Amino acid sequence: MSVQSAPVTRDEELISLLRSAQVIPVLTIERAEDAVPLASALVLGGVKTLEITLRTDAAVDAAKAIIAEVPDAIVGIGTITTADDLKRAEALGARFGVSPGATPALLDAAAKSSLAFLPGIATASELMQAQAYGFNVLKFFPAEQSGGIDMLRALGGPFPRARFCPTGGIGGANAAAWLAEPNVVAVGGSWLCPATDVKYANWEVITARCIDTMKTLRRRPR
Ligand code: 3PG
Repeated sequence: MSVQSAPVTRDEELISLLRSAQVIPVLTIERAEDAVPLASALVLGGVKTLEITLRTDAAVDAAKAIIAEVPDAIVGIGTITTADDLKRAEALGARFGVSPGATPALLDAAAKSSLAFLPGIATASELMQAQAYGFNVLKFFPAEQSGGIDMLRALGGPFPRARFCPTGGIGGANAAAWLAEPNVVAVGGSWLCPATDVKYANWEVITARCIDTMKTLRRRPR
C-alpha cells in the first residue's frame, strides 16, 4: 500500500522557507549596478533569502539582475502595495512577496495568485482581515514601533495559528530575542546592509556582518 503524504500548503511552504532563512535582509537598491555585488556579498555571508523592495526606480532591474546572476539567492519582492505590484513580482519570478500592509484589494489579488505572500499587519483587526483571505503567515510591521515583543505575545493569544516575520527596528541587538518567540519564523530588516556600505561598495564588510550575525543566531539558546 502506498503512503500518500498530504500536499504541502502555501503557508507550510512559506514557513519552511522563512524558518530556514531566519534572517531576511530588506534591500532598497538605489543603483541597479549594486544589485549583483550586494546579493553576492549577502549570499557569501550565508544570507540567501532576500527581500528586494519596490521603493526605487532601480528595484525591478535590480531584482532581474539578482535572479539572473546570483542563482543561490532566494529572491522575494517587498513593498508590494497594489495588485499591479503583485503582478510585477510574479512576472519577475520572485519566490515570495511581502507587503507592509493588507488592503482588501491586495489580499484578494494575493489570494487568487499562486505567489507565496506575506501581508503586513500591526493590529488584531488587520490580522483578522488577512486570515479571512487565508493568510496565516504575516509580516509584523513595524515591529518595534508597534509594541515590540510584548505586542506580538499579546496577538499570539487570540491568534495561535498566526506565524510572523517581524520587521521594523530589528537589528543585531534584538534579532535573537525575536527569533526565540515561538510564533516567529524569521526576522527581517535593513541592518545587514546599511545604505552607506552599499554606497561605498563595502561588500566585504556586509559579508563579514552576515557571517557574524548567522554565527550568533546559531549559538542562541532555544
Ligand atoms: C521594512 O520595510 O521591512 C522596513 O523598512 C525595514 O525596517 P528597518 O529599516 O527598521 O530594518
